[in-house]
Amino acid sequence: MKTLKTNIQKGLHGELSVPGDKSISHRSIILGAISAGETEITHFLTSEDCLTTIQAFLDMGVNIERQHDHVLVHGARMNGLRQPKHPLNMGNSGTTTRLLLGLLSGQNFTAGLMGDRSLSKRPMRRVTEPLAQAGARFKVTGNGLLPITIYGSPDLSTFNYRLPVASAQVKSALILAALQADGVSTIVEKQQTRNHTELMLKAFGGEIEQQGLTITVTGKPHLIGQNITIPGDMSSAAFFIAAATLLPNSAIRLKNVGLNPTRIGFLDVLKRMGADITIQNNVNHAEASGELLVRRSVLHAVHLSSRDIPSVIDELPLIALLATQARGTTEITGAEELRVKETDRIAVVTAELQKLGADITELPDGMVINGPTPLEPRRTDVVDTHGDHRIGMMLSVAALLTRSELKLANETAINISYPDFFIDLDRLIAAKRSVIL
Ligand code: S3P
Repeated sequence: MKTLKTNIQKGLHGELSVPGDKSISHRSIILGAISAGETEITHFLTSEDCLTTIQAFLDMGVNIERQHDHVLVHGARMNGLRQPKHPLNMGNSGTTTRLLLGLLSGQNFTAGLMGDRSLSKRPMRRVTEPLAQAGARFKVTGNGLLPITIYGSPDLSTFNYRLPVASAQVKSALILAALQADGVSTIVEKQQTRNHTELMLKAFGGEIEQQGLTITVTGKPHLIGQNITIPGDMSSAAFFIAAATLLPNSAIRLKNVGLNPTRIGFLDVLKRMGADITIQNNVNHAEASGELLVRRSVLHAVHLSSRDIPSVIDELPLIALLATQARGTTEITGAEELRVKETDRIAVVTAELQKLGADITELPDGMVINGPTPLEPRRTDVVDTHGDHRIGMMLSVAALLTRSELKLANETAINISYPDFFIDLDRLIAAKRSVIL
């Protein structure tokens, strides 16, 4: 149980560089492993989820060296992975699981995947079903859940598949399978989702094209290891952006934040709500990045529907918190995917914010929030991550607004994506005013 910082009246100040992007970190290991030569990765996210990906490739015989956030992957090429001696442990990581289902479906060995309690409840059929159409073979127990055995099929055929869900994990799994088929495969997205796999694959020498929602992938490319510098994770920066927006007197600078257009929906939503965010010093590499200046501001309600959701999918718990402090009724719909994240984020966000007195109601596919409401612990002074890192960090931001003491149960879940979260938050709480002014 962790006692949270509360009642921060002087606001957040100073500047911070957030850790590397989680999605890009996973992909850098995977593409590095299946390429020829070395891939040197700087600013790798050393969180539990990304270390799960490294461990899986170590277990498949890939030589990976790591010093802090600097990683060197000695590429094994597509046919150099080895059969693991035991089922690969996916921990809590949905991204590792879905992407490996795609990659290992075309290998010449059998491998098992298992995961923790939360991951073992998350749907995997969305990946195994389309892959089966390309000739992949799996043993899936229960209702399409982990554990799963992958019987690698080195003769995968090309495929054309229209995704029924907006999911970058499913899309990326299919891309990794398509790389192993002889010829061109086509994937049509339901909506544009984060495109890190496409950008990185191109940089490694892959043939992948996007036209509107249609992606074509040419199999059997010659991939060559690259040097990758990973930008800061927008989804981690989002917690400080929200805190600085909500806390009186705040003014912070967040450096080196990833600004890939498929990931900045949170900034757009906040601006629609009236937030004061300025982007500076943009760097336009394949993965864009820049600095964000965020000052406290008064917010008003916003309506989000299905077309808004993919680019803010991981930030929706925070948008719910922001909405409790915004004037008017915020409605979030078309977000049913939230129910199959690390937790059922619609149920958990609603229950936990209600503990603090928020006026928030669950919808089957979203939430309705009336604001502004002062947040104070009511019947209990304990909020709970429920094992979900993003819920834990959102509640820690909520605590900054409360006056009474608040404790967080199951706080170690935050290590999934941001082990130093409390250290970084404390720095911005302790910093003197005016550094960015
Ligand atoms: C991710 C995609 C998203 C996101 C997750 C990371 C990725 O999941 O929620 O945190 O790295 O591809 P879905 O693809 O299931 O929407």
